Amino acid sequence: MGKILSIANQKGGVGKTTTAINLAASLAVIEHSTLIIDVDPQSNTTSGLGIEPRSVTNSIYEVMIGGTDINETIMETEMPHLDLIPSHINLVGAEIEMVERNERERILLKSIEGLKDKYDFIIIDCPPSLGLLTINSLTASDSVLIPVQCEYYALEGLGQLLNTIKIVRQHLNRNLEIEGVLLTMYDTRTRLSNQVADEVKRYFDDRVFSTIIARNIRLAEAPSFGKPAILYDATSAGSKNYLSLAREIIQNNKKMFKSSPLLSKS
Ligand SMILES: Nc1ncnc2c1ncn2[C@@H]1O[C@H](COP(=O)(O)OP(=O)(O)OP(=O)(O)O)[C@@H](O)[C@H]1O
Ligand SMILES: [Mg+2]
Repeated sequence: MGKILSIANQKGGVGKTTTAINLAASLAVIEHSTLIIDVDPQSNTTSGLGIEPRSVTNSIYEVMIGGTDINETIMETEMPHLDLIPSHINLVGAEIEMVERNERERILLKSIEGLKDKYDFIIIDCPPSLGLLTINSLTASDSVLIPVQCEYYALEGLGQLLNTIKIVRQHLNRNLEIEGVLLTMYDTRTRLSNQVADEVKRYFDDRVFSTIIARNIRLAEAPSFGKPAILYDATSAGSKNYLSLAREIIQNNKKMFKSSPLLSKS
């Protein structure tokens, strides 16, 4: 049984997509079969993995709104062990189209149920909102990873996110866990980064990952080449940080993988 992990924070630009792509690529590199699902109409994960979103005919939109079989939307990527379900700009209208549907919060859950056995990890990149797409992702997930940018107002809005997680637990998915809070875009040269890191650790305590993602230009450049950083520059600090995050997550989930022969390879 695989683990389904949402990357969520309604704040824009905190590193959700960068984390989704590079965490998924790192898990794949250590030979854990991984699927990444782009649930953001901006489709940055899709383009960041080298797929032109406009060229996609079968996206997560067709699955959630059109009832297309999810297996028909799975695309292979340049990396072994890493598959993608792409997004499409049409997803912008999906939240409105879902409103009238029965069990509208469980559409994604029902669509991906059958994939859990095929992958070790399913990573879902959420849009920067707490609307129905994010609710669907949280309802379908075992856990949520919350990226927090080491910037002013880092903690702003997190209360709202935690409250949404609580509501999802109460009404839709009582097993939803917090996988961890990830500090991103950390700049060792600034006192601000340190201050934010301390504040986030005070607030979230042991739920903050030991791995911290540094600000690294290679992570920002790689998407324009349609590659995860590890394929663009494997020696970069950014690639190494995300590999370390993947190892930390595998370590934290050791119990889950007891039955998986793949773990012995990592
Ligand atoms: N560690 C990092 N070092 C340098 N640049 C980074 C890093 N992480 C993310 N970025 C850059 O910051 C910007 C925002 O990152 P990203 O797109 O991952 O955030 P997001 O939370 O997915 O945004 P959105 O809310 O719009 O979906 C991007 O240009 C990305 O390349
Ligand atoms: Mg994004």
